[in-house]
Amino acid sequence: MVRAAYVRFIRPYLSGDLARQRVKLVWHVWGYLGLLRLYRLPLAARLGVIARFLRIDWMVPHAHRPREIATLCLALGATPARPGEVVVEAGCWQGGGSAKLSIACRRLGYRLHIYDSFAGVEVMSAADRARSFDFSGSFRASADVLQRNLARFGEPDVCTIHPGWFADTLAHTPVPASVKLAYIDCDLAKGTIEVLRGVLPSLAEDGAVFSQDCHIPNVFDVLNDAVTWTALGRPPARIERLGPQLARIHVREHDGTRSREDHEGRHDARPSSRTF
Ligand SMILES: C[S@@+](CC[C@H](N)C(=O)[O-])C[C@H]1O[C@@H](n2cnc3c(N)ncnc32)[C@H](O)[C@@H]1O
Repeated sequence: MVRAAYVRFIRPYLSGDLARQRVKLVWHVWGYLGLLRLYRLPLAARLGVIARFLRIDWMVPHAHRPREIATLCLALGATPARPGEVVVEAGCWQGGGSAKLSIACRRLGYRLHIYDSFAGVEVMSAADRARSFDFSGSFRASADVLQRNLARFGEPDVCTIHPGWFADTLAHTPVPASVKLAYIDCDLAKGTIEVLRGVLPSLAEDGAVFSQDCHIPNVFDVLNDAVTWTALGRPPARIERLGPQLARIHVREHDGTRSREDHEGRHDARPSSRTF
């Protein structure tokens, strides 16, 4: 009902992504409360992280919600960083998520590897377009925009930027360090698989993989398709829905190894409609 009222009475008067994001912050901001449970950091540091995240929300258009980024930070803080471990963001747009993840990485002891075409979402296939909004070419921003936002709002010193299509970067060359957390946000089934090709060989034993694209039917379907996982050399993963768009991909090993969280209760895994 709140959303319907927003769409009818408020959205028509807002011009641009940033104005809409600022208004929506009124009800999404509570998603940051979860960050108070980031017990690996002292309370003052947790509050400092939330303050910096809010500044980013105010200043940089992005494509995630506070609760989603808080979920990633909590997963990252669940165990201590081992030397050399990294976080991967695949799909960064203007770097709103990157700046936040770089802050979490700085605090928790990781480097952040950011992969993007810097040419927007790859042209979607006819099959993709038949089942979803056509994102082809959207979310286009240059590497300069990303670097400026990292410098202004994030922690550029912990970041490494890998420009190029995932087909030419991750699908070709696995991440050159042990991956503690991967965040896939590219709006595309093909891109999602290319990212997994580069992430899985480097995934830490307790590493976590998240997709921000599970509201997109073809992404959700490939992640739930045993054929995908056979091609990636793994048994089928369990997809845990964590919200309208975010899901955790519980990757399995052939010897039956499961992530710690995989022993916890199963969750409903049906796709839902796009909401942002
Ligand atoms: C929804 S935006 C990412 C939003 C960002 N994570 C945030 O939180 O604001 C999707 C990004 O994926 C990138 N992208 C899509 N398809 C790609 C591909 N095949 N290779 C590389 N980058 C791609 C686009 O350039 C775009 O920046």
